[in-house]
Amino acid sequence: MTKPAPPPSAATTPDTQHANQLWGGRFAAGPAAIMERINASIGFDRKLYAQDIAGSKAHAAMLARQGIIGADDAAAIATGLDAILQEIERGVFPFQVALEDIHMNIEARLAELIGEPAKRLHTGRSRNDQVATDFKLWVRDALDRLDAGLKDLQAALIEQAERHSDTVMPGFTHLQPAQPVTFGHHLLAYVEMFGRDRSRARDARARLNECPLGSAALAGTPYPIDRDFTAQALGFDRPTANSLDSVSDRDFALDYLATASIAAVHLSRFAEEIVIWCTAQFRFITLSDAFTTGSSIMPQKRNPDAAELVRAKSGRVIGSLTGLLIALKGLPLAYSKDMQEDKEPVFEADDTLALCLAATAGMVRDMKANPVAMLRAAERGFLTATDLADWLVQTLGMPFREAHHVTGRLVKLAEERTIGLAELELATMQTVEPRITAAVFQVLSLEASAASRKSFGGTAPERVREALKAARERFL
Ligand code: ARG
Repeated sequence: MTKPAPPPSAATTPDTQHANQLWGGRFAAGPAAIMERINASIGFDRKLYAQDIAGSKAHAAMLARQGIIGADDAAAIATGLDAILQEIERGVFPFQVALEDIHMNIEARLAELIGEPAKRLHTGRSRNDQVATDFKLWVRDALDRLDAGLKDLQAALIEQAERHSDTVMPGFTHLQPAQPVTFGHHLLAYVEMFGRDRSRARDARARLNECPLGSAALAGTPYPIDRDFTAQALGFDRPTANSLDSVSDRDFALDYLATASIAAVHLSRFAEEIVIWCTAQFRFITLSDAFTTGSSIMPQKRNPDAAELVRAKSGRVIGSLTGLLIALKGLPLAYSKDMQEDKEPVFEADDTLALCLAATAGMVRDMKANPVAMLRAAERGFLTATDLADWLVQTLGMPFREAHHVTGRLVKLAEERTIGLAELELATMQTVEPRITAAVFQVLSLEASAASRKSFGGTAPERVREALKAARERFL
């Protein structure tokens, strides 16, 4: 039995209706349906519409100023582009997949609206420099949004820290109780991290701010264009220096994603602390109904889902960076279509990070610290052992190594009796080191221990209050 021939598949049959209206001069037929699907970016790059319109207006104004097109043509182009902006913002713009991307959708619509002058707009430029310019403008705004989101989170942390410059909690290393710190000091550590993220965003913005427009397809253009004019009109510091680099550079997207990834890692670390602090074992904080969820089976539960999701979503942001690095790593100069894959990871990271920043700021404003639970946890951990060793050094002139050993033996005694160091009787202490006096008890209190760490950047409440003031000035 012979099999019937398979029906013609959409994947292999060319669309014989018409070739692309903008570049199809030498094409007899349109693309296969699957070719159109894999090639089109309009599904996502429509996000660049405002940047594309701004870039085209600057380009047209420059062309007219240089006498390359007529002033009347430039005026018609500007009016038409303004109308298109309105159409897109009102949701009535007729997006067409057949027109591939935002650049050709807008240009084709411009021709429908104003006719002949629209056909002069693409003089002395290419989609290659056009997309690089549009995307840089978009990423520049994304960096500014990131900076604002981080700043709001810093403000929330500072407000919360101001309530707790004196609140003693256990500080941890290896997640083992280490030394007393204040909750305010702990929160300010994150203010520093997010401050570095903001400075990375500013660095990335400064590095990005050179205009690729006018590099044309890859080699520049014979038209007497003025690249300084368009650069300035679009808020760039200067035009890019090399046309080949201009159309193939996506470092600015990588810089954005690297900055975003580091910020996401900071958010994830903080989210993990929130999860730990909310456990029944810790109870350092409580989150209200606004930032927790219940369990459908266990009535007693109050789960910190938002923190868990912030922790998990960092993976998406890091994935975006990894994905783009891999897309770019084998590309020869100059433009390759691979670069069209640059946008979605950046859009995805921008959405994810904005959500995570807002949720984290929300949780910080919502959280109520539980100073009693923090103190109780601190009392359980022999947190003033280092203070005891330092007292032996400073009062008895004992070498630190020996003081460390003596303190270890005292900790062991207290541990055997499940009491704190401060609860050991003086006589018991003197069985280990006869020269110990009652004065030692002063350094065994948690508050005294925290207050003694007055070195710059230390956890002493007076230092924390200074640091809070400085943080307001540096960041808000
Ligand atoms: N949609 C394309 C992109 O995002 C625009 C540039 C197309 N250039 C080209 N030579 N096909 O990269």
